[in-house]
Amino acid sequence: MRDVYISGVGMTPFGEIWNMSLRDLFVEAALKTIADAGVDHIDSMYVGAMSPGLFVGQEHIASLLSDYLGMSGIPAVHVESACASGGIAVRQAYIEVASGISDIVLAGGVEKMNDGADVTYALSTAADQEYEVFHGVTFPGLYAMIARAHMHQYGTTREQLAEVAVKNHAHGLNNPNAQFQMAITQETVMNSTMVADPLRLLDCSPVTDGAAAVIVCSEEVAKKSGKSLVKIRASTQATDHIALHSRKDLAALPAVEKAATKAYKQADVRPEDIDLAEVHDCFTIAELVVMEELGFCERGKSGTAVLEGLTRLGSKRPINTSGGLKSKGHPVGASGTAQIIEVVEQIRGTAGDRQVQNARCGLAQNMGGSGGSCVVHILEGLS
Ligand code: COA
Repeated sequence: MRDVYISGVGMTPFGEIWNMSLRDLFVEAALKTIADAGVDHIDSMYVGAMSPGLFVGQEHIASLLSDYLGMSGIPAVHVESACASGGIAVRQAYIEVASGISDIVLAGGVEKMNDGADVTYALSTAADQEYEVFHGVTFPGLYAMIARAHMHQYGTTREQLAEVAVKNHAHGLNNPNAQFQMAITQETVMNSTMVADPLRLLDCSPVTDGAAAVIVCSEEVAKKSGKSLVKIRASTQATDHIALHSRKDLAALPAVEKAATKAYKQADVRPEDIDLAEVHDCFTIAELVVMEELGFCERGKSGTAVLEGLTRLGSKRPINTSGGLKSKGHPVGASGTAQIIEVVEQIRGTAGDRQVQNARCGLAQNMGGSGGSCVVHILEGLS
């Protein structure tokens, strides 16, 4: 296998974007990343999107988007793994470059969720239709069950959940691409509208339009780009039962642990070596459970760590400096790629007011549904 690098990044602002269609969003992100990498062609393309058919009535998007990008004729593939689609698109590009088949692959994600679709229904198709959705459960409902189990088993508190949202909104204040650039307090979270007990409006990621793309390439191409070298040290994926009732422990996300264990082994690093992480905080409880599965703290201790400020910008290993899905927004198929962009920006030292000092090794964790799939990337800057 060859070494693989990321030489270009580009994304649209995330939010309710009424004046751009799915194709406009993707092409804007793709052109930005192509310009950033300084390449004059791409060999192939992977595009992550959870459900363009349900959100905007459009399937067959890989051909459509490569054509609209002016690249008609290249191999192009639509990648779907619910909310992990964008991260897995990058992994597919990684595999293609590592194998030697291609030198320059564009990987990205896009979702246009605010075009009038029944969003709650569309999202619910990532859960088990016969055993979960049929009985009326929604995604906030599934994560509410995980939250209740975590509170019951470990004593996790309402304040600890709220602090995840408070911290991510504080980080998002410094991200011009974030959907919600506003500070919130524990009180505003705990007094916001109840969605699925114990999760309230401000515990949830929002409904978002947006796109993100990166150029995944060989060492030779990365060196020609003139950008600081960012190497993909690990790219791993794991799956799990998609239905919560099939799992042994409701307060755990085994696919995250499996993907992370493989990633640490592939990169030959330990959790302590990670300088910053972007994790999949689709709901506040998700960030807490993921921290435990990534080995960032003992099981049951994530809430305390967040409340003590151990994951804030300025701490030893900040989490979700971009604002996370909570504040930056969650255009489901694009979120995994955008996480990787934040890690690249941090390693390059171009993250502006949210820059982590001496960031060298970063991790991005992206998952589908309530943890039925998970993809982990570890990136390292080479000086
Ligand atoms: N965080 C902060 N503010 C939010 C928000 C969020 N997650 N969602 C909505 N808002 C704000 C809106 O901007 C709006 O503010 P305004 O009145 O100042 O304009 C207000 O709250 C009401 O927005 P609305 O769109 O009517 O909310 P809603 O009740 O239709 O939807 C949720 C709220 C939480 C149900 C919806 O955002 C949701 O389903 N989120 C989860 C998405 C999800 O499951 N993703 C997949 C994860 S696996």
